[in-house]
Order: sequence, then C-alpha cells, then structure tokens
Amino acid sequence: MVIAEAVREIQALLASSGIENASWEAREIVSFCLSTPQSALPLLYREEMDKAALQKALQLAGRRAKHYPLQYLLGEWDFYGRRFLVGEGVLIPRQDTELLCETALTFLKGRPNAKVLDLCSGSGCVAITLKKERPDLKVFALEKSPEALFYLQKNLRLHQAEVEALKGDAFFPPESLMDFDCIVCNPPYLTREDMRRLQPEVAFEPAAALYGEEDGLSFYQELPAIYQKRLLPGGGLLFEIGLGQQDAVAEFLVQAGFVNICFHKDLCDIIRVVCGFAG
Ligand SMILES: C[S@@+](CC[C@H](N)C(=O)[O-])C[C@H]1O[C@@H](n2cnc3c(N)ncnc32)[C@H](O)[C@@H]1O
Repeated sequence: MVIAEAVREIQALLASSGIENASWEAREIVSFCLSTPQSALPLLYREEMDKAALQKALQLAGRRAKHYPLQYLLGEWDFYGRRFLVGEGVLIPRQDTELLCETALTFLKGRPNAKVLDLCSGSGCVAITLKKERPDLKVFALEKSPEALFYLQKNLRLHQAEVEALKGDAFFPPESLMDFDCIVCNPPYLTREDMRRLQPEVAFEPAAALYGEEDGLSFYQELPAIYQKRLLPGGGLLFEIGLGQQDAVAEFLVQAGFVNICFHKDLCDIIRVVCGFAG
C-alpha cells in the first residue's frame, strides 16, 4: 500500500469513529510511524509504506478510533514551542495553560534570579517552560502523583532543565519551600458534574489531575492561606482556573490576605488566570 492510501484509510477509520480532526490526525499517525515530520509527508505519498510502519500505524489508528488520546499514543505533545513526553498517569499539557506561563513571565520581568514554585506540576510543562524562557530563575516543582513525577523527571532530562522537582502534597508543603517571588498553579478544577460528562479522551487522563471536589474549587479554597506566608512581600500567586471560577477564586485570595487581584483572558476572551499578590 502506498503512503497516500494508508493516510486515506486511517482518515476514514477515524472519521467514522467521530474523531473531529481525522485528516490531520491520520497524517500525524502515519508521519509518526515513518519518523518523518508531517510537513514532509506529501513528498512521500507515492512511495510504498514500509510493512512494519504500516502495521504500527493501523494499530495506533485502531486505538485512536476508540478515543484513546492521540497524545498518549504518540507519547509526546507540544507546549509553548517545546515537546513534552506524556503517557498514562500524567495530564496532557493544554494550550490554555500557556497563558499561565505568559502571565508569570510578564510578572517576572525585571526580577532577576527570582524564585518560582510550580505547584501541581504534572509533566513539568509550566516549570520547564519558565526555566527555559528565563534561565536565571530558580524554579521548584511540586507534584504528588508518582506517575506524573516520572514524566516530570523525564521531561527535565529531555530539556536539560535545572528545576528542583519534589514529590509532595500541595496541601502539606515541605518547610523548605519558602520565600518565593512567584507561585504558579494549575490545579485539578473540574466539578463532580464535569467528571460525569468528560469527553471520552479526557476520561483516559488521571482523575487526580482533573477533579477538584464537588464544586471544583478545593485547591483554590485551601492553597492561598498556605502559600501567602511562603511568598516574599509583593510576590504573586497565579492560578489557572476553569470556566467561570474567577469570582470564587478571587474571593478565596482576598480572604487569605492577597491584594491587587487581577484576571487574565485567553484568546477566546475567557478568564483563564487569576492572580493575587502578597501585601
Ligand atoms: C491540572 S493538572 C496540571 C498539570 C500541569 N501543571 C499542567 O498544567 O499540565 C494537576 C496536577 O496536580 C497534581 N496533584 C493533584 N493533587 C495534588 C496534591 N494534593 N499535591 C500536589 N499535586 C497534586 C496531579 O497529579 C496533576 O499532575
């Protein structure tokens, strides 16, 4: 079978299984199995597809047709222009979260050698992005799940990023985590109702990375009081939030003594980041 036919066959399978972007995903799967960038694929369309690569592509397509996440099948995904290794047990980095990085980088401008903590670090996409964009920062990453930590460590090695990764519970941080200029956090924030209505792909991701208790707010409610005293005066606590959570999160920050609460919107005009500053 020539490569173009393989792409067509896989695209048809994915489309008939309700995969929205079937054409792009089919090309992604085939180019992944041929170890070639997707942009170079059209040049190879008339060539016979290597048997082993074809078999692998059809096997991956079969799993994708059952809505297993493409990112887990490929074992990697892009975030802020870098490739991160992912697999079962770790949240797939989302484009939404790039706004958390941008907000942190803007806040950290003019603060050389600042100390930054990434809470609920997952794959490490936020911590590593901050460190790579600003090598002068001293970055710490805290993560509870051993499975996620495994990917965090792999990504640290992949990017040769000097981030101090710690296994721990954000609700009970080690005493040593003190005096930060900036704390960023993309916690689990889905509600019980959200968890009932997960897209099939998201259901493959770890519940511990998604679920923020009944109202989705458990981390926002508890963490501000815990971390207020771990920030330097003027230091910022920056949360990524779910749709419509801004007022509740702002209120929790105010209750914990944070000032100058501000919101940041994503490209779809949705508030995605809420910040508070230690007085
Ligand atoms: C929404 S994911 C965010 C992951 C990553 N920061 C990102 O943006 O892709 C939340 C992460 O918090 C971790 N987590 C859940 N409960 C935690 C806790 N009590 N302490 C530390 N990490 C926790 C999960 O394992 C998961 O990796």
